[in-house]
Amino acid sequence: MAKKKGKSREKGGEKLRVSYTPKQQVLLARITEDVTEHLAAKPRRLAHSLSVAKTAERLAVAYGVDPFLARAAGLLHDWEKVCSVSEQLAHARELGIDLGVELELVHSVLHGMIAARVLPARYPELPPAVWHAIAVHTSASADMGPLDEVLFVADGIEPLRPDSPPIERLRALVGRASLDDLFWDSFVGGITYVLEGGRYLYPGTIDVYNALAARRAGRAHS
Ligand SMILES: [Fe+2]
Ligand SMILES: [Fe+2]
Repeated sequence: MAKKKGKSREKGGEKLRVSYTPKQQVLLARITEDVTEHLAAKPRRLAHSLSVAKTAERLAVAYGVDPFLARAAGLLHDWEKVCSVSEQLAHARELGIDLGVELELVHSVLHGMIAARVLPARYPELPPAVWHAIAVHTSASADMGPLDEVLFVADGIEPLRPDSPPIERLRALVGRASLDDLFWDSFVGGITYVLEGGRYLYPGTIDVYNALAARRAGRAHS
């Protein structure tokens, strides 16, 4: 857990008040170094990963989530993206990932699931919550927790993503909407994007949508 007391750090014009234990600092430095080396051939992906880490940390502070776990998850979430789609498909098959449809159709959701299975051996210091957040950062899941939501939203709104009306709307909601609502808007926006583009929608997404919609409806009526 991040300590309460800490020095302020300038971040995009805002001061972010967060500090880590020496052990956490060492681990974050090691992960950053590893990611920088691993994604060296993909500089834009590396820049995105570093940006997601910062955004996830900022969201975590805003919503009372552990910023250390958010930062670690952000750094590692696209680890598998160094591989081509065909390599990702091969890795998914080796790992026995079965999504009930041809994996080629849903290749875009595989990289998080693969990373979540491969990376724990490399970073046994990190808890299962980090791997769950990484596993569901593209597909979402019916059991999204706060850390999962932070990573999902950070991935979609990090400042290197080109401005677009839906993304700017989400960015403006940070700190004003609840984390659940921010995630919901981001998730639904993602589905809309897939539908409007005429792309294949992973059938599991419909189940996730319905489970989350029912949960939200239940909350609204309670
Ligand atoms: Fe990703
Ligand atoms: Fe990403």
